[in-house]
Amino acid sequence: MSQFLHQRPLHSPLSDPYPISPRTLASSQRPMSLLSRTTLLLLLSLLVLLGVILPWFGAPQFMFPNTTSSLAKWRDYTLAQAASFVAKNGTVIVCAVSQPYLPFLNNWLISITRQKHQDQVLVIAEDYATLYKVNQKWPGHAVLVPPAPDSQTAHKFGSQGFFNFTSRRPRHLLHILELGYNVMYNDVDMVWLRDPFPYLKGNHDVYFTDDMAAVKPLDHSHDLPPPGKKGRTYICSCMIYMRPTDGAKLVMKKWIEELQVQPWSKAKKANDQPAFNWALNKTAGQVDLYLLPQAAFPTGGLYFKNKTWVQETKGMHAIIHNNYILGFEKKIKRFQDFGLWLVDDHAPESPLGRL
Ligand SMILES: *[C@@H]1O[C@H](CO)[C@@H](O)[C@H](O)[C@H]1NC(C)=O
Ligand SMILES: *[C@@H]1O[C@H](CO)[C@@H](O)[C@H](O)[C@H]1NC(C)=O
Ligand SMILES: *[C@@H]1O[C@H](CO)[C@@H](O)[C@H](O)[C@H]1NC(C)=O
Ligand SMILES: *[C@@H]1O[C@H](CO)[C@@H](O)[C@H](O)[C@H]1NC(C)=O
Repeated sequence: MSQFLHQRPLHSPLSDPYPISPRTLASSQRPMSLLSRTTLLLLLSLLVLLGVILPWFGAPQFMFPNTTSSLAKWRDYTLAQAASFVAKNGTVIVCAVSQPYLPFLNNWLISITRQKHQDQVLVIAEDYATLYKVNQKWPGHAVLVPPAPDSQTAHKFGSQGFFNFTSRRPRHLLHILELGYNVMYNDVDMVWLRDPFPYLKGNHDVYFTDDMAAVKPLDHSHDLPPPGKKGRTYICSCMIYMRPTDGAKLVMKKWIEELQVQPWSKAKKANDQPAFNWALNKTAGQVDLYLLPQAAFPTGGLYFKNKTWVQETKGMHAIIHNNYILGFEKKIKRFQDFGLWLVDDHAPESPLGRL
């Protein structure tokens, strides 16, 4: 089982099921001469007519996208601008997504919309296709922090590209803290069943969840758990809430440092979670840490595998994480089996609509 514990199984080791296919403009190669002058004139006048008249009837934007300028606008959109646009009560909810994970993003968003927190969501796009797609449907809610990682290699779990991709996360989070916001980070293979904010009690620096599947008593301690077999804890880097305090910033800096001192190697095939755990271990004395209740934030290794426990804790679950499973299709199937795959029937509830 321990092999699962240090994995971040959102990203499947399978090859990318939705290869990035840049939509090249299918430019018509037909020679002009094929179009008679009258047809051309007719077309031109039709275009002018549409352009002049339709806006008066509130023609939807997509009919006349000013593509070049809007793309340029989002390319230059900064994290500071984006955070200031989405923040409510000084709080931003962020995820980091590349194009193959758009269905998961949408599923997660539907569940957040049901808890009325969607306005605070900022999607950190890890490729330009995602940046443009999200902002086209939901202007201002996606930002790309350059340089964009190489999207072809980014999703292969255990690869160096995947490591590079996840290594960007503590930098994004530190940046948002330095801008002065509270930040909640979520992986997008999560579903909210209740509003998680009432669980963020007190005034601690960093809140997180345990990735261990062993059942704990309902009144378990909120301290950092003792280290496990590998000498470190198994805290999940999948859900983190932080206040913009020196303590929280210190944890992010330490996380970045730990990723640098234990870089990716073929032998280890590391991901970002052990480094996060070492960062917590090394800063524990200086930072106010808070372990969230297991009943509300169970690991997928518990929620999807122990029916008795799920029944016993019915009504207490806030966020469900679809981890302890590898593979894009398997994750979707599991969400479907548990009634948590919302995108097929409830896409209109998402601010992105149907993708
Ligand atoms: C902001 O805070 C107020 C007061 O605590 C609360 O009622 C409201 O729901 C919060 N808004 C959001 C979007 O969290
Ligand atoms: C990952 O990052 C390292 C260090 O910045 C770089 O040398 C390497 O080419 C990157 N690899 C991939 C696959 O993105
Ligand atoms: C940090 O890790 C070391 C080595 O496993 C362990 O002895 C120590 O108790 C840990 N500290 C905390 C605060 O968890
Ligand atoms: C499943 O949950 C029940 C009820 O909480 C618990 O007693 C049992 O030990 C759990 N089983 C496993 C395999 O963890």
